[in-house]
Amino acid sequence: MPITINGSPAALPDDPRVSLLDFLRDRLHMTGTKKGCDQGACGACTVLVEGERILSCLALAVQYDGRQVVTVEGLADGNGLHPLQQAFIDHDGFQCGYCTPGQLCSAIGMAAEANRGVPSHVSADLTAEVVLTRAELQERMSGNLCRCGAYNGIIEAIRQGLLAETAA
Ligand code: FES
Ligand code: FES
Repeated sequence: MPITINGSPAALPDDPRVSLLDFLRDRLHMTGTKKGCDQGACGACTVLVEGERILSCLALAVQYDGRQVVTVEGLADGNGLHPLQQAFIDHDGFQCGYCTPGQLCSAIGMAAEANRGVPSHVSADLTAEVVLTRAELQERMSGNLCRCGAYNGIIEAIRQGLLAETAA
């Protein structure tokens, strides 16, 4: 089984040392996924594997043989933006935009984690239903750095985008 990227199968690299990030960017020329630190510290390279957010710079492409990967290029529905993408525009959730693909994928994975009831470091009751308060969102998105400091817009965008998604 080949790896699947945004619904399309792709042949894995012969070299097992190629990271998923380099595979996406250098081999498949899908440059939406960004390389920031290349060592797991910034979140710019976040992609989704069957709905779960991962750091593609810390993953080897061959690890994902047979798995379904979604990158920022796969979020939109045809010409229509994903509700979260539109929310980032509406709330000025970016300046340079370099961190934005990772923020988008991370937020979608984060919402799925919250829906599954996964607690965070700031969750007071580990058994209670997760309510995505501002503090919860800040904590859960803390792995995605923004050098432009667009954090207020990012949090508002995620709130609007998640609500829009839930209502859809
Ligand atoms: S490039 Fe992967 S975490 Fe920074
Ligand atoms: S918008 Fe520039 S790094 Fe986040």
